[in-house]
Amino acid sequence: MPIATKLYASNVTSTLNSKTNSNNGDLIYVILIVIPVIKLFLYSTIHNQNPTTSTLQSLSSIQPFWWQLLFMLQKMLRLHFTTALSHFASKASPFPLTPVSVTVSRAIVCNNPTRFRSQMGSFSTSSSSSSKLLFRQLFEKESSTYTYLLADASHPEKPALLIDPVDRTVDRDLSIIEQLGLKLVYAMNTHVHADHVTGTGLIKSKVPSVKSVISKASGATADLYVEPGDKVQIGDLFLEVRATPGHTKGCVTYVTGDAPDQPQPRMAFTGDTLLIRGCGRTDFQGGSSEQLYKSIHSQILTLPKSTLIYPAHDYKGFTVSTVGEELQNNPRITKDEETFKNIMGNLNLSYPKMIDIAVPANMVCGIQSNPKQAEAS
Ligand SMILES: [Fe+2]
Repeated sequence: MPIATKLYASNVTSTLNSKTNSNNGDLIYVILIVIPVIKLFLYSTIHNQNPTTSTLQSLSSIQPFWWQLLFMLQKMLRLHFTTALSHFASKASPFPLTPVSVTVSRAIVCNNPTRFRSQMGSFSTSSSSSSKLLFRQLFEKESSTYTYLLADASHPEKPALLIDPVDRTVDRDLSIIEQLGLKLVYAMNTHVHADHVTGTGLIKSKVPSVKSVISKASGATADLYVEPGDKVQIGDLFLEVRATPGHTKGCVTYVTGDAPDQPQPRMAFTGDTLLIRGCGRTDFQGGSSEQLYKSIHSQILTLPKSTLIYPAHDYKGFTVSTVGEELQNNPRITKDEETFKNIMGNLNLSYPKMIDIAVPANMVCGIQSNPKQAEAS
């Protein structure tokens, strides 16, 4: 059995065991407390005694051992009740406040050990019983780009990653990472951007230990390449990689893990594939409206409706949406495929002003430490 499957299976088993233990606790409670009390009341009634007096008399004669046992049972039940209450509270709010703080536990490592784990698995722990996602949504106003910071704040090393950093805001991003005491491990891109230069290269020049990450299908240069199904791990948290071509041929969406110990609701970092009430254009960089329609419907809209959508851009001030919200209100993806293709083919958008600078730079993942390499591409 692969390591990831093993860990997941053991996690599910432990969840099931804890459920069984809770049920056993309830059963013990019924047997040891409820049944004797009912018996006392019935006995008192049959023998014409005052039931309350009789019960109090009986309770006062209980030995210290039994009081201890009752106290333990009470603690067990209180814990059970608290767990149920927190479960209810977490379900009650459809939108977490930003920053999000989500309780998670356990580690699941990359499911492709040969390609990714050897380079990215150094922060895995299997003994942690709880950890927290630290999340920040950062904005770059010139290109209206969102950069996302995610970290496992409860891990001793506080490993962090950035999704879609912009060169202009690298200092701000590194400054918040330092202030929060995080260790930046990965600077990732959802695709080769045409409207801004990625901050990845600049970050690497300032923090050489950081690894740049992009999809293999993008054809761009990076330290690490991801493919569909890969898992990018920071501490006990991980992101799944989903191929979502259409805006560009190498677009991917990063989705928080599908496991009981990962953040709920799930979060999808969709790049330009799916925007809030829109989607990325498909008229350059190997774009295809047909592919985009399929990617959005098969890889993003099949996620639970509560999944939070975090795009790479927003031009109207929106910050977050959900799968359910987009399924109902997105004026493009609610249409059938033919209508969608028609819409995308008639957008008549102007040529992106940054494309001739941004795309060549981003094809080398913004690795600006080697200008000759950038020029050559
Ligand atoms: Fe883009």
